[in-house]
Amino acid sequence: MAPEHALLDLQPTPARILAEVVDGLSQSPRRLPSKYFYDAEGSRLFELITRQPEYTLTRTELALLETVLPEIARAVGPALQVVEYGSGSGRKTELLLAGLEDVAAYTPVEISRSALEASVERLRAQFPDIGMLPVLADFTRAIDLPAPARPARDVLVFFPGSTLGNFTHAQSVGLLAGMRALLGSNGHALVGFDLDKDPRLIEAAYNDAAGVTAAFTLNLLRRLNREIGSDFDLDGFAHRAVYAGERMRIETSLVSLRQQRVHIGGQRFDFADGDAIAVEISQKYTRGSVAGLASEAGLRLSGWWTDADHGFALGLLAPD
Ligand code: AVI
Repeated sequence: MAPEHALLDLQPTPARILAEVVDGLSQSPRRLPSKYFYDAEGSRLFELITRQPEYTLTRTELALLETVLPEIARAVGPALQVVEYGSGSGRKTELLLAGLEDVAAYTPVEISRSALEASVERLRAQFPDIGMLPVLADFTRAIDLPAPARPARDVLVFFPGSTLGNFTHAQSVGLLAGMRALLGSNGHALVGFDLDKDPRLIEAAYNDAAGVTAAFTLNLLRRLNREIGSDFDLDGFAHRAVYAGERMRIETSLVSLRQQRVHIGGQRFDFADGDAIAVEISQKYTRGSVAGLASEAGLRLSGWWTDADHGFALGLLAPD
């Protein structure tokens, strides 16, 4: 593996972002990729969302993980290379690394160099016996795993937060198939799934009273204005998050509040009052839907744990 100081930042270039934005806004319905939510301000706002009373996902998953970790540790066994999709900046990673038996190595896979370095630096101090082997990569692409100095018995991929739900069905199958490729014949993936529940609770989680989620969604336009020179009027669009029960997912959009024209990279985009730009999906799951998704990627559900209210689940996936 390349030494840490040689890690390059793979954040997309303005030209790449511009091309994706123009392409998305040229489609019908118009769309913008939710992956661009997470600039520094977007990451700060997301952190704030996780502390809103209506957004129970993060707290519920953390408490669930704490409760069932001994069972998970027995199911997956000792001496693993833990591969996390995302930088693992939080409590969940610490819990997992502390709760599994004799972890051989930890490999966060993250596209932002600064986020990757910060998490590894913090975790290295906390877990001096675990080999820290970060990979700077887009986890939606194929990943080459670095080999730990102390050989691992197996791989455990950790993908918490129901982040899988921000991908379409086809993308999710692709992501799970990518995990499957890392698991060999005996590895596991531990994945967080927000469960289908009372639509009022789901909608409230994406329409918090303090307006943090609205600010998070609108920050996408601020980022684009700064990075690709577009002229979105932030007061001219509003956050809208609706639960589409038939598709079991929150569909978030930015809705034009009046007739207006936006300039992006020499092109003009006209919006009528009420025109929407689709910006994010947040899929909700049942045990059956997860089993179906897993089987499309060559995986089976080998463990399933939920909180008492059946709000959130941790699923353990194994090669079929
Ligand atoms: C990161 N991801 C799982 C969050 C979700 O619930 O879909 C992102 C988010 N969007 C609005 N609120 C939270």
